[in-house]
Amino acid sequence: MIVIGGPTCQNLASKVAKELGIDMGGLEVRRFPDGEKYLRVLSDVKGQSVAVIQSIHHTPDELLFEYLLLADALKDLGAKRVTAFIPYFAYARQDERFKPGEALSFKTVSKLIESVGTDEIYTIDMHQHRVLKSSEVFKIPSHNLSAMPLLADYVKKSGKLENPLVIGPDAEAEQWAKIAAERLRTDYDVFEKKRLGDAHVEVRPRRANASGRDVLIVDDIISTGGTIVEAAKILLAQGARQVQVACTHPILAPGALEKIRSAGVSEVIGTDTVPGPISYVSVAPVIAEHARHS
Ligand code: R5P
Repeated sequence: MIVIGGPTCQNLASKVAKELGIDMGGLEVRRFPDGEKYLRVLSDVKGQSVAVIQSIHHTPDELLFEYLLLADALKDLGAKRVTAFIPYFAYARQDERFKPGEALSFKTVSKLIESVGTDEIYTIDMHQHRVLKSSEVFKIPSHNLSAMPLLADYVKKSGKLENPLVIGPDAEAEQWAKIAAERLRTDYDVFEKKRLGDAHVEVRPRRANASGRDVLIVDDIISTGGTIVEAAKILLAQGARQVQVACTHPILAPGALEKIRSAGVSEVIGTDTVPGPISYVSVAPVIAEHARHS
């Protein structure tokens, strides 16, 4: 078995290979002078099962195209099996036509990934508001893993929160709040959220009262930071002692982290599904555990 990581996933792929005790496959990716992508697989993959690790973030069109070139090349070079590990799966939010005429991007992307011979796909905390299971979209076997146990363990180990109240900032986040609360042996609640625009949301509390409590907000994505800022404002106004945030995918649009810190959040923790300044937790163990059997 071979692990190959796309250019933005080299660190993550090498951690996965290390966990599995195998070497990482080599890859050359560059651009031709005219802007076209060049990709070359440097390892012998004939007859091998290959785990491809390629997060699709920040420049999703480019990284998706790299995945398509790579998976197609691997199959063409005789790989026995190609398993896609796409820790951050962009385009999952456009899973329905919100306005007439819109492209169903999630469906298109899934068809492209299947079209190059991908045998199986794993995602991590994929955005699933309306689509409840990835198998509703993919025809190949698909699995959505979670980084929340790793994030909760990190928070527990850092020991900075005492009996924290776990908050999911919207209804979808209940799945992550539940996992984190179980792991931290504490209670949780979720807020109600209404999106008013790309960067504006309205958040309302339900039952939970954060007065005198340490709070951990958990979510899948931090993009503009608007969701976290609104939730943190409410919790601090209720009298929370401190508010920390843990998210799987720290997309972090420009200024997001500063906005969150200015709102009074003491710590923001993310994973390396999107490598960046707060990627303190690696998802390598969760990928390795499943790659082992792929
Ligand atoms: C959406 O519902 C997601 O779960 C996140 O809450 C959302 O993507 C965060 O976006 P932002 O940081 O821009 O508020």
